[in-house]
Amino acid sequence: MKITVIGAGNVGATCANVIAEKELANEVVLIDIKDGLSEGKSLDMWQTAPINLYDSRIVGYTNDYSKTAGSSVVVITSGLPRKPGMSRDDLIATNAGIVKSVTDNVIAHSPDAIIIVVSNPLDVMTYVAYLTAKVDSRKVFGMAGILDTARYRAFLAEALNVSPKDIQAMLLGGHGDTMVPLPRYTTVSGIPVTELIDADKLDAIIERTKKGGGELVNLMGTSAWYAPGAAAAQMVEAIVRDQKRIFPCCALLNGEYGLNNIYLGVPVKLGKNGIEQIIELQLNADEKKLLTESAAAVKEVMDVYDAMVNSATA
Ligand code: LAC
Repeated sequence: MKITVIGAGNVGATCANVIAEKELANEVVLIDIKDGLSEGKSLDMWQTAPINLYDSRIVGYTNDYSKTAGSSVVVITSGLPRKPGMSRDDLIATNAGIVKSVTDNVIAHSPDAIIIVVSNPLDVMTYVAYLTAKVDSRKVFGMAGILDTARYRAFLAEALNVSPKDIQAMLLGGHGDTMVPLPRYTTVSGIPVTELIDADKLDAIIERTKKGGGELVNLMGTSAWYAPGAAAAQMVEAIVRDQKRIFPCCALLNGEYGLNNIYLGVPVKLGKNGIEQIIELQLNADEKKLLTESAAAVKEVMDVYDAMVNSATA
């Protein structure tokens, strides 16, 4: 089995490293446009194999998509990351062109691949990959919810002084400040989180989660990579091991949650076929309102992309 990661920047390299360490495939291919970057990073990673004791062969190539042929899963991380003061949406013009051309190359060599998009603005870049790949939407989806719930769970673990392993959570909506963490679907070993934490503390954690990416951009001057890379690798694992795991992922909605033709974060079941089910939660009025607002924010950026395409073809 071959897994390809496009983009050998911080997120792509981290993702490839986790995939190799977990031995999710016997071949892990890393591609980047920058001369020598993927070769260098993959060589460095491969030299950890005798130390970390894995045998997934990790190899890098500069922009040579023929080497990705026959990949089962392709993770797309290409594009510019955010700088302080930028929203993810500010990246649309540059990153849409990059994601489109990468997806064309990926599909040309691996027409059956499952594609996981990580580039920002996430929900709209996933839509761009889907329009470009022209395959079943169950095979093109985005990584955001695992990262966003991981941040939420990590903050809760710290506040409650419990293991992050015991915190389960669900989240809906776009990968932006309108994301919708769901306290009603957050538990600590089955105990509703609301029984363990004051409402104002929980609200503060939810607010911090929504701005979790920006907090890191402000600290580092660029966007995060350890958690985004690990989150994308967890999706790859669920697929290649056919685990049927339930994760929040960015999926195309066609009627679910009363929404149509929009990529948005929802709970899905991930297995060997990609998205095997979209799970519809019974939301209360407040949750529905937040989801509607988040969908509107994503739709606005999708419309910007549609307008860009229309003016280019007019
Ligand atoms: C973040 C970027 C990767 O949330 O979107 O850190």
